[in-house]
Amino acid sequence: MALAHLPRDREKHLLVREMFDRIAPRYDTMNRLLTAGLDQRWRREALAAAAVGSGDCLLDLACGTGDLAQLAAELGARVVGLDFASVMLAHARRRGVAAELVRGDAASLPLRSASVTVVTSGFALRNFVSLPVVFAELARVLEPGGRVALIDVDRPRAAWLRAAHSLYFDRVVPLVGGLLSDRDAYRYLPDSTSYLPPREVLLRLLRQAGFEHVERRSLLLGSAQILTGVRSQ
Ligand SMILES: C[S@@+](CC[C@H](N)C(=O)[O-])C[C@H]1O[C@@H](n2cnc3c(N)ncnc32)[C@H](O)[C@@H]1O
Repeated sequence: MALAHLPRDREKHLLVREMFDRIAPRYDTMNRLLTAGLDQRWRREALAAAAVGSGDCLLDLACGTGDLAQLAAELGARVVGLDFASVMLAHARRRGVAAELVRGDAASLPLRSASVTVVTSGFALRNFVSLPVVFAELARVLEPGGRVALIDVDRPRAAWLRAAHSLYFDRVVPLVGGLLSDRDAYRYLPDSTSYLPPREVLLRLLRQAGFEHVERRSLLLGSAQILTGVRSQ
């Protein structure tokens, strides 16, 4: 599969699922390598931002191989990890991630309304076909007052930082990814940031879906971000 263009709709759904199934075996190693281990720090920051602890019933949306789900479980939360890529889930199972792992689509969650206290998601927003649809599902499955913490990549705003970041993200990442894993997938990684709406729009979409106290924090000089919010009562 070549991702010469950025797919949309059903084509995006199918290509993204197939791509993650293909890169699953080296996914964790590549994350650690390409972020120098910062990816795990950002996951911990997201869990802290949502004050995750024992007593929480947490959905980790698009859980992949289960890094965020495992960290949430270690904080005492009861965790459901959901992803549509069966090979990613198989890796999570093989690693013994302490969560109920479910195959499903973020656009149509197989969970009852108001059934969880927290939703987290790591680095998945830009992969969804429709953010308003997914945000509406998050609002549905969260109980009133429930918290959401969503991590994704970003690009710095200042010109010089943006240029330095682009050198790494747009050149080095596809090169290293191509050598060690899958060229198309690690070309898609920087390209897919263009699916993400501007910061203000992301926050507005969350508010429109039924979240309040919506905030965004920038990580590593603007190269990643965490969005948080509280489900309106
Ligand atoms: C970049 S990976 C992130 C995995 C994990 N959250 C992490 O922190 O490493 C994106 C994940 O989103 C999943 N995904 C993308 N679209 C999805 C959808 N519509 N429903 C469920 N999972 C989806 C992919 O299968 C993949 O595992």
